[in-house]
Amino acid sequence: MKKAIGLFLMSILLIGLLAACGSTEKNSSGGQNGDDKKVLTMGTSADYPPFEYVDTAKGDDYIGFDIDLANAIGKELGYEIEVKDMDFAGLIEALKGGQVNFVMAGMTPTEDRKKNVDFSDIYFTAEHMIVSKKDSGIETIEDLQGKTVGVQLGSIQEGKADEISEQVDIKIENRNRIPELIQEIKAGRFDAAVIEDVVAQGYFKNNPDLTGFTLKDDPEEAGSAIAFPKESEHTAEFNKVLNEMKENGELDKLIEKWFRSKE
Ligand code: ARG
Repeated sequence: MKKAIGLFLMSILLIGLLAACGSTEKNSSGGQNGDDKKVLTMGTSADYPPFEYVDTAKGDDYIGFDIDLANAIGKELGYEIEVKDMDFAGLIEALKGGQVNFVMAGMTPTEDRKKNVDFSDIYFTAEHMIVSKKDSGIETIEDLQGKTVGVQLGSIQEGKADEISEQVDIKIENRNRIPELIQEIKAGRFDAAVIEDVVAQGYFKNNPDLTGFTLKDDPEEAGSAIAFPKESEHTAEFNKVLNEMKENGELDKLIEKWFRSKE
């Protein structure tokens, strides 16, 4: 009897152990799906059209430039891509903690971030834009004097706002999601927000009461790259396919599809 219970407990322990191994395997280097294709989890912040978002009119799928690009690279390398949506400010931690295999979120490879994660080459560049209501009279940085300016938490736009605050006296506020910034401006709680131009332009279409002007900085300042955990086995292979796509025109086709064709 005692022996039977012992055996029973042993097998439970074994099953538990096996299950644990299985899940770390999935987290660190991708799991397998039914067709024996490896699954890689992509972390993103799907509040960023046309990079990544949900078009509720069309369904609940994550769509956008980054999603297409990730799928194209995955297809070439034999990976199926699974998208995991979270707040932008949590993405680096999710990479470090192994919850995701890579991040594509219009993320800019800054020196600070490079201390924690590795990046591919840049695949797209944007510029910072000051967004405000049309009737706000905000047309230059100087006009922001005494104003409340919103930024996405954890984004490089936070740093940009800090820079602006050295020039004029502003109050900086942050929110987790881009639509919240838009809402706060419309509600009059923020006078302006710092948002990337290509993203802001999308919001102008549905919000004709908003406008903006771009800050003419170094264009690489708001470049996008793919982020990986330090020493990831995927950085080099993704980068190789990315650069092939730059050369064979596939990347340009995606840029055309998501950034140019919707005028
Ligand atoms: N490029 C900026 C950064 O890296 C903003 C990116 C925000 N991305 C997003 N999916 N909300 O900080």
